[in-house]
Amino acid sequence: MELPFAESYRIKMVETIKRSTRREREQWIKEANYNLFALKSDYVFIDLLTDSGTGAMSDRQWSAMMLGDESYAGARSYFNLKDAIKDILGFDYFLPAHQGRAAENILFSTIIKEGDILPGNSHFDTTKGHIEFRRAFAIDCTIDEACDTQLEIPFKGNVDIAKLETVLRRYPNDKIPAVVLTVTNNTAGGQPVSMQNIREVSALCKKYGIPLLMDSARFAENAYFIKTREKGYADKSVKEIVKEMFSYADIMTMSSKKDAIVNIGGFVAFKSQELWKSCQKFCIMNEGFITYGGMSGRDMNALAVGLDEGTDFDYLETRIKQVEYLGRKLDEYGIPYQRPAGGHAIFVDAKQVLPNVPKEEFIAQTLGIELYLEAGIRGVEVGALLADRDPVTRENRYPDLELLRLAIPRRTYTNNHMDVIAAALKNVYDRRESITKGYAITLEEPIMRHFTVELEKVKE
Ligand code: F0G
Repeated sequence: MELPFAESYRIKMVETIKRSTRREREQWIKEANYNLFALKSDYVFIDLLTDSGTGAMSDRQWSAMMLGDESYAGARSYFNLKDAIKDILGFDYFLPAHQGRAAENILFSTIIKEGDILPGNSHFDTTKGHIEFRRAFAIDCTIDEACDTQLEIPFKGNVDIAKLETVLRRYPNDKIPAVVLTVTNNTAGGQPVSMQNIREVSALCKKYGIPLLMDSARFAENAYFIKTREKGYADKSVKEIVKEMFSYADIMTMSSKKDAIVNIGGFVAFKSQELWKSCQKFCIMNEGFITYGGMSGRDMNALAVGLDEGTDFDYLETRIKQVEYLGRKLDEYGIPYQRPAGGHAIFVDAKQVLPNVPKEEFIAQTLGIELYLEAGIRGVEVGALLADRDPVTRENRYPDLELLRLAIPRRTYTNNHMDVIAAALKNVYDRRESITKGYAITLEEPIMRHFTVELEKVKE
């Protein structure tokens, strides 16, 4: 018989996690003002809040940490990382930072001015936050198909080339400091961008003289999908595909906490020496000297190894198959989610799961709270709370999709955990008709409110 699939690693160290009772969880979530970010992690059994910085490092990474060089300037660890970035990603210049948003801060402090336009596929929330904080505008040109959760197409993260060209034509190119291509497209459901689309975006950027910035947090998962889904790439290695993807980019920002499987770290990398030089002052002011930025020597060493392991096919196959496994379980129970399963997460279609909760009462947040109450599982809302208010009108923005993201940390949970997640969701789904009320905001910050928002239950 054909042998079943099994993980390409074995476990050497474990961490205890605790179950709790529904009554305890009711108390804890109330004390957290119904914000899942405000829960102590000890109050969570299976934590799917994010796949960022929550993965398990390998024995190779831990041993590289022991060899970290903590010199302030010119550390060996810096050169290890520099070599990995050149060999694996193809960039000559980079600045280390403590995580992805810090890399964005270095770059955007240099290239964005008030009133600028940054089109792309869906911008991640901190990316958009950095843009809007500088009174510039992020324009989402993702293909419309991304909004139909039941439509199964291989590259749902793609940019709509016609939409992008309309933006590029409308504004002078000195108002567009970069096109931002996020791979994979996190906000649209961890959906990949095809090489064909990357090529077309790059061609448009060249035509209009605009740099292409890749927000690369999950670049390796994107490359895996190109290999397994796009014609002509099946026989190429993930590393070859990664090289080709980045051959089209002028700049990349990286949250290393995702596909490079480290707990902290990031960088911004450049093809242009000139841009690298003009960004250096913001690295020095906000992060640290240019050969360590926001990272210790140990962090940089672990990251250099992580870039290599994160682009290994066997590792990626294990990872993506686990996310697919959860997707198939939800299929068994008829629970709708953004199809096909994403690279790093399942995005449950909250509007379809809770049809009776009004959008003004935060549908996906309501589902997130129900799932927590059911089984101590913590997901994250990608809906109206995250969409925030329009920076000009201050009206609430209601996105087409209300999603509950269940992000799967790398090399962390087993498929038994996936079974528990699916069963808990089924229990919530089974009582969907009786869930008619959501939540109302009692306190919110003017920007990126979802992290710290306080909510109360809407009365029956
Ligand atoms: N870009 C993308 C596509 C991201 O998903 C993230 C973070 C960042 C940039 C910022 O990186 O967290 O290292 O500062 N995403 C996490 C998430 C937080 O849960 O999706 P960071």
